[in-house]
Amino acid sequence: MKALQDKILQEGRVLPNHILQVDQFLNHQVDTALMEQVGNEFAKRFAQERVTKVLTIEASGIVPACLTALQLGVPLVIAKKSKSLTLASALHTADVYSYTKQEATTIAVSEKTIQAEDRVLIIDDFLANGEAAKGLLTIVEKAGATSVGIGIVIEKSFQTGRQSLDDQGVRVESLARISSLQNGQVSFLLETAMIEK
Ligand code: G4P
Repeated sequence: MKALQDKILQEGRVLPNHILQVDQFLNHQVDTALMEQVGNEFAKRFAQERVTKVLTIEASGIVPACLTALQLGVPLVIAKKSKSLTLASALHTADVYSYTKQEATTIAVSEKTIQAEDRVLIIDDFLANGEAAKGLLTIVEKAGATSVGIGIVIEKSFQTGRQSLDDQGVRVESLARISSLQNGQVSFLLETAMIEK
């Protein structure tokens, strides 16, 4: 998605350890007009899938997932990372290991929100090693529901997540695919855009 790539080139910052900081438009301050375009693009790509629920994980996946759900006219379900008193006792859970934080978290969704007849679209902001995506897939599976695919705003294609989801036969639609974050430069996989930051 060109508008997203342009924004990454204009406002993204490459940090050490191959981290892309996008606090100006996605992770901290949010460019709501751009996120609306993101939601519309995911809704278009998955339009034929008869999606009944969009599923994401707190926190940064919520904005793009919400705008996708709004466009598709379906509810958004947010997997919780911390135990919440407001969550019902009957939960679908999955363990997610974060390589960046080097810790495992149990994510949870109430059994009341995703059911066997649901067709679930998973949306998240980043795909790196794919641990969050796999955890969300596990929750859909535990609910006996159908996963129609995964929409990712920014994919770090040089990490293992994309390949491992492809190997599992999961449909992944990423709006920006980054092939490297070396020497302060952002390079995209498919498009030719490349710029010194
Ligand atoms: P994985 O889920 O794909 O395996 O990712 P990983 O464990 O490597 O990343 C853990 C967290 O770091 C995730 O957010 C992920 O979105 C984020 N992340 C990974 N690479 C980058 C990057 O280059 N830039 C930014 N900005 N974030 C990155 P999280 O812990 O779930 O945090 P949040 O959603 O609450 O913000």
